Formats: sequence, C-alpha cells, structure tokens
Amino acid sequence: MDSINWLDVLLRWMHIFAAITAVGGTFFARLALLPAIEESLTPESRKSLHAAIRRRWSKLVAASIAFLLVSGLVNYAMRIIPGYDLPKFYHPLFGVKFLLAMGIFFIASVLSGRSAMADRFRQNARKWLTINAVLAVLVVLISGVLKTAEKSKKPAPSPAAAVEMAKPHG
Ligand code: HEM
Repeated sequence: MDSINWLDVLLRWMHIFAAITAVGGTFFARLALLPAIEESLTPESRKSLHAAIRRRWSKLVAASIAFLLVSGLVNYAMRIIPGYDLPKFYHPLFGVKFLLAMGIFFIASVLSGRSAMADRFRQNARKWLTINAVLAVLVVLISGVLKTAEKSKKPAPSPAAAVEMAKPHG
C-alpha cells in the first residue's frame, strides 16, 4: 500500500516518545542521578534538589502515562477490531505487558507524588527505581515480540459467501 496511515503514525509517535521519556528517565535517575546525589550532596541539599526535580518530573510522568495509555489502547483496538488473524500468544502476552505497565505507572506516580506514601517510597528510591527499570526492560522486550508478531488481515468473504451470509435464516 502506497498511502500513509496518519492515525497509525500519530499513535506510534505518541507511544514511542512517551516510552523513551519514561524509560530513559528511569534509567538516568537510577544509574546516574541517584548515585551522584548520594555521593556528592549533603542531606539538606539532597532534599531541596529532590523537591525541585519532583515538581518538574511529575508532570512528565503524568503526560507519559496518559500518552501511553491512549495510544496503547487505541493501537490494541486497531489490532482486534479490523479482524486481524493474530497468533495465539498475542492476547495473553498483551495482558502481561499491560499488567507490567500498570506496575510501572504506579511506582512512577508514587515516586513523583506528594503523599506520605510517596515520602516512604522515596526513602527506598534505589530499590523502586531498580524494580521499575527491570519492569521497563521486560515491557520493551514484550512490545518487540507483539510488534513483530505476524498479523494477517482475515480474508474478506467471497461475493457468493457474502450473499449467503446476508440471507435470512431459520
Ligand atoms: C511503560 C510503558 C510502555 C512501554 C515502555 C511501551 C513500549 C512499547 C514499544 C517500544 C512498542 C513497539 C512500538 C513500535 O515498534 O512501533 C509498543 C507497542 C505497543 N504497545 Fe506499548 N508500551 C507501554 C505501555 C503500553 C500500554 C499501557 C498499552 C496498552 C494500554 C500498550 C499497548 C501497545 C500496543 C497495542 C502496541 C502495538 C503492538 C503491535 O504492534 O502489535 N503499551 N509499546
């Protein structure tokens, strides 16, 4: 097909930009920012830096989650509604990806939140960021399998079969 499906392209842009922001931010925070802060700042300056980062990062986390959910759900609907023949593993694997993504969203939201629970989570920031980084790796690996899974459009019924299907039965 020669034409560009702009809805597909837009959804893909949304999904990929949000995914690289959220996943890249998690890796940066866990592997560079956190160790650097622990190594070189006093507890007092750590606190004010954390607060300044949290204010900014929480907006990006919220936007990334919204983008991933909207583009992901529409994308999924576009795989099932037009009647693609999908491999047997597709739906269960999508279910696993969805649950892992929900775990990532929960941890990321709490870590960048303002509640008392958020403060408790942040005391173990190293552990939670590690968990989120591992979950993100799994989600990206699963997404690669879903993306490359063979999907063939179900054949349209032949004219004779369509006439037969349209006949009243009974
Ligand atoms: C941390 C969260 C997420 C990450 C890192 C992520 C990452 C990805 C990546 C890298 C792809 C492949 C895109 C491409 O090659 O164009 C993808 C595809 C996809 N994602 Fe996500 N995603 C996340 C969350 C979600 C959520 C929450 C949903 C559903 C509600 C979702 C549904 C989908 C669907 C349906 C596809 C297309 C699969 C296919 O082509 O068959 N994703 N995702």
